[in-house]
Amino acid sequence: MDLSKRIQGLTGGGSDGWDVFYKARRMVADGTDVIELTIGEHDIRTHQSILDAMHRSASGGHTGYAMVPGTDALRDAVAERLTTRTGVPTTRDNVLITPGGQSALFAAHSAVCDEGDVALFCDPYYATYPGTLRGVGAIPRAVPCHPENAFEPSYADITDNCAGAKSLLVNTPNNPTGVVYSKDTVEGIARACRDNDMWCISDEVYDTQIWDGTHISPRTLDGMAERTLVIGSMSKSHAMTGSRVGWVVGPKEVITHLVTLATHTTYGVPGYIQDAATFALGEGTALEQDVGAPFERRRALGKAVIAKQNAVSLVPSSGAMYMMLDIRNTGLSGEDFADKLLDTHHIAVMPGESFGSSAAGHVRVAMTVEDAAFETALQSIVDFAKEIEP
Ligand SMILES: Cc1ncc(COP(=O)(O)O)c(C=O)c1O
Repeated sequence: MDLSKRIQGLTGGGSDGWDVFYKARRMVADGTDVIELTIGEHDIRTHQSILDAMHRSASGGHTGYAMVPGTDALRDAVAERLTTRTGVPTTRDNVLITPGGQSALFAAHSAVCDEGDVALFCDPYYATYPGTLRGVGAIPRAVPCHPENAFEPSYADITDNCAGAKSLLVNTPNNPTGVVYSKDTVEGIARACRDNDMWCISDEVYDTQIWDGTHISPRTLDGMAERTLVIGSMSKSHAMTGSRVGWVVGPKEVITHLVTLATHTTYGVPGYIQDAATFALGEGTALEQDVGAPFERRRALGKAVIAKQNAVSLVPSSGAMYMMLDIRNTGLSGEDFADKLLDTHHIAVMPGESFGSSAAGHVRVAMTVEDAAFETALQSIVDFAKEIEP
């Protein structure tokens, strides 16, 4: 029996650049001690107080179907959070609760892209982006971003590539680079969207992890609230990756349609998960800061290691849980560097090429092991780069 072209074409074919990741996993399974600095997941688990709230809710009976758009309490908490953080008045009618940011990305693009529409995304990119865009029937088109500009998309980068595009997907703080987009960059994004009548899908799942500078949401800029869909999630801010709870925030009309989509796809998010998320958001910024603090510490440790040598340089990252290293001086591709590093030092990092062609010659280091081990691993990466430098 034939399968749909859409489902068969999701990955776009070819190598996905994740070979090193799977090789590291096989080595671990075979008993090798590998330091894994690959995927974006905390080395701590969800805080006990959030689990207690989840337990209270489930034992209290909140295990049936929950409201499809999200519980009123969680939608209100998300709306209040965005109003407070961005100054853009937001109510529960602007919020759909989703099973994580990934599902929110799919929903947002479903709302704005028809079959065959061009959907832009910035390269380097979070690995699922092109497949998500293909999944809604859109044609993904990369906006190449440049290392000289810390991989931030300029107005020209966007407009050079936006002919006929329906939407632009941006991500700040950025995965994989850790860069927090500057005011100029976000203004350029907004201008490009307004000038070319594009929707802006703004992935802000790392908005609580800012180590330098300020997070600016495109939704806050003139004329943008009506054309921006913000993607949020509890995964990174509250170490709730496994709970699968996130949101889309946007104009009321879009959310109304997305509730219909949710009715026909996810049928909402479990009530006890939503209650736990409501509890977590109610705890305010202290809990978010606790979750983010290890990354801020490790970034400082990593920067100090990198400052002492010239073999690799650091993309000026100022947020999220990643450091992106420019290893072009070694003459190796990111893939070869990562592969040899894994073989010789048993340290696994992600090749820049896994995140698109713009980040070739770079590797992404996730700051997801405890401080001392992270510092030692980074020192080994730097030493390895020095050894192989031509
Ligand atoms: C940039 C970005 N967006 C979205 C997601 C999806 O996160 P989740 O579905 O866990 O909310 C991730 C996860 O790593 C990410 O890095």
